[in-house]
Amino acid sequence: MVEKENNKKAICLSVPQIQGNEWKYVKECLDTNWVSSSGEYVNKFEGVVANYIGRKFAVACINGTSALHIALMVAGIRPDEEVLLPGLTFVASANAVKYIGAYPVFIDVESNFLQIDPDKVNDFLTRECKYSKGKFINLKTKRAVKAILPVHLLGHSVDMDPILKIAERFGLKVIEDAAQSLGGLYKERKVGSLGELACLSFNGNKIITTGGGGMILTDNQKLAQRARYFITQARDDALEHIHNEIGYNYRLTNIQAAIGVAQMEQLDEFIVKKRQIAKKYNEALTGVKGITLPQEAQGIRSIFWLYTILIDKNSYGLSNKQLLEKLKAANIETRLFWHPLYSLPPFKDCYAHRMEVVDDVHKSGLSLPCSVGLTPKQQDKVIEIIGCCIAGSRG
Ligand SMILES: Cc1ncc(COP(=O)(O)O)c(C=O)c1O
Repeated sequence: MVEKENNKKAICLSVPQIQGNEWKYVKECLDTNWVSSSGEYVNKFEGVVANYIGRKFAVACINGTSALHIALMVAGIRPDEEVLLPGLTFVASANAVKYIGAYPVFIDVESNFLQIDPDKVNDFLTRECKYSKGKFINLKTKRAVKAILPVHLLGHSVDMDPILKIAERFGLKVIEDAAQSLGGLYKERKVGSLGELACLSFNGNKIITTGGGGMILTDNQKLAQRARYFITQARDDALEHIHNEIGYNYRLTNIQAAIGVAQMEQLDEFIVKKRQIAKKYNEALTGVKGITLPQEAQGIRSIFWLYTILIDKNSYGLSNKQLLEKLKAANIETRLFWHPLYSLPPFKDCYAHRMEVVDDVHKSGLSLPCSVGLTPKQQDKVIEIIGCCIAGSRG
C-alpha cells in the first residue's frame, strides 16, 4: 500500500499516455472475439503507421527486437557477415544481429547529437576494409561487411544523407532502427522512410505504445511479403500446414494493434508535448555550469523521446550517478546511458572502430523525466533539484 502511494507520487522517466480511444477499440476486440494475431486492427494499424511515415508496406510484429531480427533476415544478412552499428545503443539492436549469426561492428558516435558518426563509418570502410572477390572484407576479422544499421537515438535522427551515400558507394544495405524516434524528421522526411527497411518499437516507454509491439517498414513488396512469411511461422500452405523454412511466431495481436491505432491518433499531439518539455528544460538549464543540453541538428526535428543531459562532475559538482541518486531520493526516476556494448561479454568477439567519444558520453549521460503526461509542477520539481546541486554559478 505504501509502495502504491509512493508510486503515485513518483515522477517517472517515460510512461505511456492512455487517454484516447484505447478502451473503446480494445473493447471492440473483446466483444467480437478478435483478440489474437489477425484482425482488422492489425491491418488498420499497419496502414496508419505506413501512411504516417510515408512507406508502402508495414508488417506489425510482437516487439521491436523481433522486427529487427526479421528485417535483417529479409535484407539477406547471413551468418558470419557484419553489420555496422553505433557504439551507443540499446542492446536489442546488437542482439538482433547476433540472432542470425552475424556480427555487429561498433562505430563511434559523434559528440554533438550522439548519433553514429558518418565520418567514422567512412573511415572504417576505407581504411579497415578491402574489396575482394565480390565482397567487402573487414581486414581485422576477415568477415564480409553487409549492412549499416543506423539507430536514431533518443528521438533525434542520424545524419542520413552521408550514411546513404556511403552505403551506395560500398554496396551496403541500410536498415534503420527507428525504435526511439517515431515521428522524427530528417530534412522533412520521416525517420523510418530512409533505409531499404526500418524498424519501430511500441514498448511501454516509447512515444506511443501497444503494451509491447514493433513494426517493419519498407517500400519493397517482396521484402514485406518475406517478413510477413517469417513472422507467421514461415507458413507456405495454411490448409496443408506446409512450412518450407524455419519461421517465428512474431505477430502482433489485434488487441495490441487496437491500442496502437488509438495511440497513433494522438501521436502528433504527443510530439508537441515532448518538444514543449524539452524547451522548458532547455530554458531552465541553459547556462548551468557543467551541464551540456541535448542539441537538435539543423534540418532535423527531434521528438525528444528521452531528454538526456551530459554532466561534467568537476564543474557541476556531482556525477551523473550522484545526481541520479539525489533525484531518486526525491522519488524522481532518471536513467543512465546504455553501457557501451563493445565492452560487454556477448560482444567481445565483435570489432569496435575508434571508440573515442562513446565512453565519455556513457559516463556523463543522464536522461530526465519526459513522459508526455509530465506536468509543469513535476517538471519544476526536477529542475529545482538539478538547480540546487549547482556547485558554481551559472556561466
Ligand atoms: C534502439 C532500440 N532498438 C530496439 C529496441 C527494441 O524494441 P522492443 O523493446 O520493442 O523489443 C529498443 C527498445 O527499447 C530500442 O531502444
